[in-house]
Amino acid sequence: MASKLWEKNIQVNHDVEKYTIGRDREMDLFLAPYDILGSIAHITMLQKIGLLTAEELEKLTHELRLIYDETGTGRFEIEEGVEDVHSQIELMLTRRLGDLGKKIHSGRSRNDQVLVDLRLFIRSKIEDVVVAMTRLFKTLQSQSERYKNILMPGYTHLQVAMPSSFGLWFGAYAEALADDLTLMRAAYDINNRNPLGSAAGYGSSFPLDREMTTRLLGFASMDYNVVYAQMGRGKTERIVAQAIAGVAATVSKLAFDACMYNSQNFGFIRLADEFTTGSSIMPHKKNPDVFELTRAKCNKLQALPVEITLITNNLPSGYFRDLQLIKENFLPAFDEIIDILNMVDAMIGQIKVNEHILDDNRYDLMFSVEEVNRLTQKGMSFRDAYKTVGLEIEAGQFKPVKQVAHTHAGSIGNLCTSEIENLYRRELERFDFDTYHQAYDKLLGKIR
Ligand code: ARG
Repeated sequence: MASKLWEKNIQVNHDVEKYTIGRDREMDLFLAPYDILGSIAHITMLQKIGLLTAEELEKLTHELRLIYDETGTGRFEIEEGVEDVHSQIELMLTRRLGDLGKKIHSGRSRNDQVLVDLRLFIRSKIEDVVVAMTRLFKTLQSQSERYKNILMPGYTHLQVAMPSSFGLWFGAYAEALADDLTLMRAAYDINNRNPLGSAAGYGSSFPLDREMTTRLLGFASMDYNVVYAQMGRGKTERIVAQAIAGVAATVSKLAFDACMYNSQNFGFIRLADEFTTGSSIMPHKKNPDVFELTRAKCNKLQALPVEITLITNNLPSGYFRDLQLIKENFLPAFDEIIDILNMVDAMIGQIKVNEHILDDNRYDLMFSVEEVNRLTQKGMSFRDAYKTVGLEIEAGQFKPVKQVAHTHAGSIGNLCTSEIENLYRRELERFDFDTYHQAYDKLLGKIR
């Protein structure tokens, strides 16, 4: 049994070890490159405050950069018997550099190490999510413009209600993503603060230069109060999960619409053949499994903030091992939502819309309000016009004029596509990804 960072002279029971490590050796692989970036920043600061010599810093940094490169090759692993990524990297350093490797832990704890790893991981993953959101946003916007003149029924209570259009349908989900991006940006900002230096959650008697590590890691600022920094574990994940859940809620509704509109009973859209699946018994089937799985995956993602809430809900301040379990569903959630967004983007880009939906007279009555409005514009009061048209419908004499003249902002005839575009752009520009990319390039010696 390999020794633990904290092992003194009592041997660890194997079952207990298995129970407490849980899935950490697998989960912590997500964090490996970020753990190294955090360590390089930390030791650069330790040298400045006199806890490492320039030569020691140089050796440690060199070796850490080599390990960083290994994390990108798939060769990096957390060995059997090693508890977590923090222990693994320290172990690799001491194997290669002897006792010098043990010096990197001065003034910190695995508690602030995992805190900072998570912040860096989240920051990078949010950037990837935003790229995927933006791609889908653009596809929705262009489909909205492309089909802006194609009408479809709008429903309330799933009863035919009023004229809508494919321009409105696609555009609605684009605008939804703009709001989801606002929430994502708020989550990004809350995450973009440096918890390093909080150590076990109560700081350190070394004169740690936290401004320096904040700058070195490209954070916008720090979590100042060390107790609060530790309290950020779980809270940050919950907030970020809420932002992911926001995107998932939008996409899940879109997926349900798409499944429904694709059904023969609606026949509003047709999914491209390569995105449908067959049946083992019914030779005619082209099922929308992709959208169905999208819906379920999105619904699962919406459970994530609830799960994190429950894990953290009744914990007092300070570190608890409970927090470790958040990683299991949280860390993979980013790749899951990115996968979903990419698949939905491909599907939406290929959708064929039915341009003749309204030829079917089952939708005739959705023009009733148009008729009421026409009479009202000619001078009749709305209530009288409503009654006149109502009686015509009851008598089976209503003849729809299948045209709409909606001109106000956000309506069929005035989609405000460029306003929605501006809304999205403005939010997108508020993300500052460059600062952290540059900081990493410096830590990794790619630029001076
Ligand atoms: N695997 C642990 C976690 O994710 C790392 C921190 C361990 N700290 C401790 N005091 N046991 O929370």
